[in-house]
Amino acid sequence: MYSSLLLVHSWIRWVVLLSALALTFLFVRGWLTRRTWGGSENAQLWIFSQTLLYQGLFGLLLYVGGSPFTKLLISAPSTALSNPVPLFWSVRHPLTMLSSIAVFFVGRYLTLKKAHPQNKFRSAALTLATTMLIILTAVPWSGLLYGRSWFRWTL
Ligand code: HEM
Repeated sequence: MYSSLLLVHSWIRWVVLLSALALTFLFVRGWLTRRTWGGSENAQLWIFSQTLLYQGLFGLLLYVGGSPFTKLLISAPSTALSNPVPLFWSVRHPLTMLSSIAVFFVGRYLTLKKAHPQNKFRSAALTLATTMLIILTAVPWSGLLYGRSWFRWTL
C-alpha cells in the first residue's frame, strides 16, 4: 500500500509542476492580451487546486502511514534532525509542500476576490508561479543527497 501510494505521489508531482507552469503562461498571456476572465479560468484554477490538494493528502498519508523517516523522527528525534536525509523527509519536504499549498489557496482566494479581469490574471499568474517555485525547492531531484529518480517505474 505504502509503495503504491509513493508511486502515485511521485507521478502527480509532474502533473502539479507541468500544470503550474502551463497555467502561469496562460494567465500571463491573458493579462498581457487583456482577455476577459470567464468560467474556463475559474475551472482551471479549481482543477489545479484539486490536484494540489490530492497530492498534499497523499503526501500526508505517506507521512503518517509508514514513512521510515517519520518513524525515525518519533523514535530518535535528535538523529533524524541532525542528518540531512531524514531531516529533509521528516521536516523540510512536508513543511515546504504544506506552505506551497497554503500560499496557493490564499492566492486563489485573493485572485477570485479581485474585480478587474487584468488584476485577476496578474494575481493568478503570480500565485501559480510562487506556488511552483516553492514546490521546486523541496522536490527530491535526482543527484541531490536525498534525491530520488525523476520517474519512478517500480513499486
Ligand atoms: C504538494 C506537493 C508535493 C510534491 C510535488 C511532492 C513530491 C514528492 C516526491 C517527488 C517524492 C518522492 C517520490 C519517489 O520516491 O519517487 C515524495 C515523497 C514523499 N512525500 Fe511528497 N510531495 C508533495 C507534498 C507532500 C506533503 C504535503 C507531504 C507530507 C505532509 C509529503 C510527504 C512525503 C513523504 C512522506 C514521502 C516519502 C518519503 C519516503 O520515502 O518515505 N509530500 N514527495
